[in-house]
Amino acid sequence: MPKPVLEQAQAEMLDWRGSGMSVMEMSHRGKEFTSILEKTEADLRSLINIPSNYKVLFLQGGAIAENAMIPLNLLAGKSADYAVTGGWSKRSVDDASAYGTINVVASSEADHYTYVPDFAGWKLNRDAAYLHICTNETMSGVEFDGLPNTGDVPIVADMSSHILSRNINVSEYGVIYGGAQKNIGPAGLCIVIVREDLLNRASKLTPAVFNWKTQVEHHSMINTPPTYSIYIAGLVFEWLQAQGGVTAIEQKNIAKAKLLYDYIDSTDFYANKVALKNRSRMNIPFYLQDESLNAAFLKGADENGLLQLKGHRLVGGMRASIYNAMPIEGVQALVNYMKAFESSH
Ligand SMILES: Cc1ncc(COP(=O)(O)O)c(C=O)c1O
Repeated sequence: MPKPVLEQAQAEMLDWRGSGMSVMEMSHRGKEFTSILEKTEADLRSLINIPSNYKVLFLQGGAIAENAMIPLNLLAGKSADYAVTGGWSKRSVDDASAYGTINVVASSEADHYTYVPDFAGWKLNRDAAYLHICTNETMSGVEFDGLPNTGDVPIVADMSSHILSRNINVSEYGVIYGGAQKNIGPAGLCIVIVREDLLNRASKLTPAVFNWKTQVEHHSMINTPPTYSIYIAGLVFEWLQAQGGVTAIEQKNIAKAKLLYDYIDSTDFYANKVALKNRSRMNIPFYLQDESLNAAFLKGADENGLLQLKGHRLVGGMRASIYNAMPIEGVQALVNYMKAFESSH
């Protein structure tokens, strides 16, 4: 989270802009919260140029809830294609499989998710309801560097861990979704951006709170939405605009990632195993050549204020997650520590 956002939230905690209420105390249908929701959506639309034929939903249940809701909202008796490029897209396959025929059309699982397979080899089905991909795999640090050509088959993308970190062309996708807790706001909120012609396919079994069409008709308020999380997301969008928007933050993200990858590549002491073209700008996993030093590395990092560097439990090693809110000074501090650790070991 950007520090100015937390400070603003703190300042407005008891009395939101003279309303006499905390955002947590507002009626979700009152004029105050309605203005927050409308501005939050408008700011997101302008940040990534969402065309008018796309609807924006603020839902609950995080990204994982959408793993089940995507097939329920889109399958309509067809099969769907899924690419498996890391732990999250693998989980999406597992969750979706309960609802219909899921075809895995590409996978890098046998190579420990170190790349996105060449699109030329994907076994795409022209009559699939959709193709699901995870454009940034958070655990293994693998980011797409383009999209496969799916013809008329809509692409559904889990962008949880790199949404708003780089420019995208929304119209290349049928659905974009993401849990908020990386570049947007508190966990639990999930943003779904859906092309309106895809809103007529939901199974009757789709719960109303997760039926995208129903939620569009009710402006994400078929029930009480996660109001405080939406408010914080709005503050983050304002902060991002003040940074110069997505184009400006993308340049910063490129510089941050380069600083860390360049150092890792300059030494045998550390290694990153991801193919160069798929190296994530947000999540940079790295391994110490001598893994018996892991505990000492993490302890020293903690003592230097460099927190949460332990890799995902399924992947091991270390991982630096350098989301939008991480300044380049934070990455420089990590590199300085890594250099010092290398020379003392
Ligand atoms: C790429 C990706 N997809 C899905 C998820 C799951 O999100 P949630 O825990 O909000 O359901 C995560 C979690 O961090 C993620 O990084």
